[in-house]
Amino acid sequence: MNVAYPAPEFASAEETVNGLIQLLEGGFENPYEISGTVLVQVVDHPELDFLAVFGEALKIVRPIHEHPVDTRMTFPLATLETIFRDYEILDWRSPEILGTVELEGNLDLAFQLGMSCVRPSNTTIDRLAALRALHKKKGHRNLDEVVRLHLPSQHQLLEAIDEGLPTIITGLEPSPPCKDWTIDWLVEKYGDSIVCRRSSELKITLRELADQMRLFEEKPELENDTTLDKAYTEGVKMPHEMWDDFGPMFFDREDFIPAQLWLGSVSTNTPATALHCDPTTGFLFQVMGRKRLELFSADQADLLYPKKAYSYYQSCWFNPHKPRYDLFPKAKGAKSISVDLHPGELLVQPAGWFHQVFALDSPTMSVSYFWRY
Ligand SMILES: [Fe+2]
Repeated sequence: MNVAYPAPEFASAEETVNGLIQLLEGGFENPYEISGTVLVQVVDHPELDFLAVFGEALKIVRPIHEHPVDTRMTFPLATLETIFRDYEILDWRSPEILGTVELEGNLDLAFQLGMSCVRPSNTTIDRLAALRALHKKKGHRNLDEVVRLHLPSQHQLLEAIDEGLPTIITGLEPSPPCKDWTIDWLVEKYGDSIVCRRSSELKITLRELADQMRLFEEKPELENDTTLDKAYTEGVKMPHEMWDDFGPMFFDREDFIPAQLWLGSVSTNTPATALHCDPTTGFLFQVMGRKRLELFSADQADLLYPKKAYSYYQSCWFNPHKPRYDLFPKAKGAKSISVDLHPGELLVQPAGWFHQVFALDSPTMSVSYFWRY
């Protein structure tokens, strides 16, 4: 049986755009006190264009009048309808969104505004609340280290996950073993695989990514050049053809959402992934280079300034790498565990832990799996 939800009807373009504005206003936060103005243009309905002016709150100005603009975001109405309909599962990086949007000017403003219109589902809200209560009850903020287990049984692992305890598993090897996963070998075997989608048309193959990675490895200073695309896949769906190299880990493949690939050249001085928490249990297998994770227990959410606008994973305003205690004073009381993950090691991170990820070596490669439930 094939059951599909009926597509929602939008009464009018005006209703869609006004609904979106309400989402933007409700989710907007600006703790870094960024100022600027974004012009949002609706290609097929220019009468609905509006200005979003950053302040302590977001100010919407309409009709458009002469006003200096820092950023211009241009959408077809159909994309705005998608955003309005899918705000609980929205992924701005998907080609259906990013491939249809034109952005000009200060992209940080565009990013901050865009992220204001996502929201968590009730399931995610309830789940995170339960995890925060569990970690508090177990006193996880007082943990000093993450235990390493050599090839534990599935039962042992399930017990640790039930307790909300992160675990590093040793003794696993992909096929071929980690030491053989070099950039040259990857290009030879998977050179034609698609590893990034910058838009619906522009797909990057692993061979092209490797060329970009070699450029960054030769000239590391280019990694700070914001005009260049990152040479990092940032959790793109792992190409299907790689799946068999990483057999199912302790559970069936059907227990996980499609695996994600984190491959590229990254700065070793700044976080590769900013502080956030995931509402489902994650398995992070390290293949190339080492990674360091700073873990904060779920019950420290009130100290880490998590964003109110999020859909799936919840990012934080506080950045432990560059702490601004003047803006986020409660973060002084937060306590983390530092974990170094080596090639061949698997971190099993029960849902709810906040984490910031650094690549200690570049190039880096990891594969992550999230439980489906
Ligand atoms: Fe994560």
